[in-house]
Amino acid sequence: MAVVWWILAFVLILVAALSTQPGKAVFRLIYRKVYAYILSRIAKSYNKKMSPFKEKLFEDMKTHHTGDLTVLEIGVGAGANFKFYPAGTSVIAVDPNPEFDKYLMKNAEEFGEVKLQDFVIAAGEEMAGVPDCSVDVAVCTLVMCSVADQVKVLAEIKRVLKPGGKFYYMEHVRAAPDTWAYSIQNWVDVVWPYLSDGCTVRSELWKHLDTAGFSQVDYQKFDAPIRMALIAPHLMGTATK
Ligand SMILES: C[S@@+](CC[C@H](N)C(=O)[O-])C[C@H]1O[C@@H](n2cnc3c(N)ncnc32)[C@H](O)[C@@H]1O
Repeated sequence: MAVVWWILAFVLILVAALSTQPGKAVFRLIYRKVYAYILSRIAKSYNKKMSPFKEKLFEDMKTHHTGDLTVLEIGVGAGANFKFYPAGTSVIAVDPNPEFDKYLMKNAEEFGEVKLQDFVIAAGEEMAGVPDCSVDVAVCTLVMCSVADQVKVLAEIKRVLKPGGKFYYMEHVRAAPDTWAYSIQNWVDVVWPYLSDGCTVRSELWKHLDTAGFSQVDYQKFDAPIRMALIAPHLMGTATK
């Protein structure tokens, strides 16, 4: 019985500590470090399964854009997409989590033909450090589910792309309404964002892409060959400024 009291006392002290400002800051730091570590590992196994889809998504980067490319990758994480970029690409990496730094550098070293031009610590909704009409390509993979405001991020992407520039994306999205996954997503989404840095399994990104004001939007929905059925429904495509 004494053990229960000890556990209760520990939980209460922990809750009290985490409700103070320094407590919150320490928790955030640890959360970000652990999240960056876990994600850098998950990204590798996800990439193994998703490589054919990613190769298809990015294949026209080599043909559509001639000369050296400047890619803005938003929510870059550990840099899982570097291996798909054409040699000579310069990447401006954006992510609000500075703890990805070391994983990003490691990936940049591994794919040495791609240059990491800058790592901007920022959210996609507020990329004030990136000038208007300055990048050829913008990329998001598995990011739009985590952002607070998809409309703002798409507006920022449109602002920073050069005229004719393309936004490439591959994201998990909401399942079709007549499926069991759709109903389960509703339930799971109550706790999911707390476990996965704000990610929702009910993103309907395509609706915002359709109304974001791009000159052309192309996408396809498909089920990714991954174990987690809840995030298997995917959307990939491009949007041209
Ligand atoms: C699931 S990870 C995907 C990382 C990487 N794009 C990949 O495909 O492996 C989601 C990433 O989005 C970042 N993120 C979260 N909120 C964001 C926001 N508002 N703007 C930009 N990136 C964000 C996270 O820090 C994390 O790096």
